Amino acid sequence: MNDNVYTLNIPTKVYFTHTLEETLFEHLRENQYKNITLVIDHNLRQVALVDSLAKSLAQAFDCEVGWCTEAEPCYTYLDDFRLNFKKKDTDAVIGIGGGSTLDTAKAISVLMTNLEPAITYRGFNQFKTPIPPVIAIPTTAGTGSEVTPNASFVDAIQKKKMGINGEAIRPIAAFMAPALTLSCPRSATISAAIDSTVHSIEAFTAKKATPIARFFAKKGFWEVANTLQALIQDPDNLSYREQVMRGAFFSGIALMHSGTGPASAISYPLGVHSKIPHGYAGGLALPHVIEYNISQGVFDYAHFMTEQPESKSQRQELSFEFLHTIKTLWENVELYNVLTRHEIDESLESLFIQDVLDLAPALEQNPVPFGPAEISLILKKINEQKLSQVCLR
Ligand SMILES: [Fe+2]
Repeated sequence: MNDNVYTLNIPTKVYFTHTLEETLFEHLRENQYKNITLVIDHNLRQVALVDSLAKSLAQAFDCEVGWCTEAEPCYTYLDDFRLNFKKKDTDAVIGIGGGSTLDTAKAISVLMTNLEPAITYRGFNQFKTPIPPVIAIPTTAGTGSEVTPNASFVDAIQKKKMGINGEAIRPIAAFMAPALTLSCPRSATISAAIDSTVHSIEAFTAKKATPIARFFAKKGFWEVANTLQALIQDPDNLSYREQVMRGAFFSGIALMHSGTGPASAISYPLGVHSKIPHGYAGGLALPHVIEYNISQGVFDYAHFMTEQPESKSQRQELSFEFLHTIKTLWENVELYNVLTRHEIDESLESLFIQDVLDLAPALEQNPVPFGPAEISLILKKINEQKLSQVCLR
């Protein structure tokens, strides 16, 4: 498309609601759905709001439930999980949970009508038979899965995280109910929120960022950054939950209208090889990526601090201030503590670098070239941080 043209496109109908059950039922009835498949995070069995929603759905519709037990599902898990469902078709697949559960719901929608092993559909638009629509009800705020056409899974054999993707798996509706995120534990709340800030910052600086992407990125970043610390201290505060959910959603819109970058790409092997949760992993890489970019003369970060930075020196100064803001936020939510719980095997460095290079479309969006030497530099910095974190203990 011509560089002078940009669009705003949100194909998912997004509901922000404080009356989830009522709003959801209205939507299901409007669309004359009768036969529903539910994919729910099994950790939510104990959450009263989810339990009562599942029961009400079972009373009102022909309903089948699969409880998703995997935090980082792999393709063989999807094949096993498909066996939970006796239905051969369904009017809609509803996912209730965090990003992994929503991704699993997307995969089940594909596997309901496409009968080969799940790995067959890895890549873009690899499934040919039409699939039932997906409805997303996130219980964490940040992954953006509720509005994206992507679902990430681990290929346990190739040790890579690569997804099933296609416009058909983009949820047709998403129900954002801040009360549902009250059940989200502290570390998952932090991980998802940090994930959203990585999305917003990289969407802002990506080469293909549009003015619309930049508008949502900045708005989304600050809604989360200004609230996250208060939320961690007061996790039952519904208005903080709502602010973080809305900010993360705006960051998701930014991501949809732009691209990702090196921190997102580096988060995948950190997840696969070191089992660091996705949001934390991107968060560990991000300040080093920003620092590197600033050293190469990228001062776009200044726009997060002021509307119109005037001179080059002001842009540089404000970019460093922004970097400082990020590092302070990370410290305040104790992001670096995650390093004490995970091993980073330095002997895997070349494999690690290759895994990141495989995500070339993300790296290509960085405003300055980002190749093996830069990936190695970021890994070295994360390792140094791990050492200093361990020494502090
Ligand atoms: Fe992410």
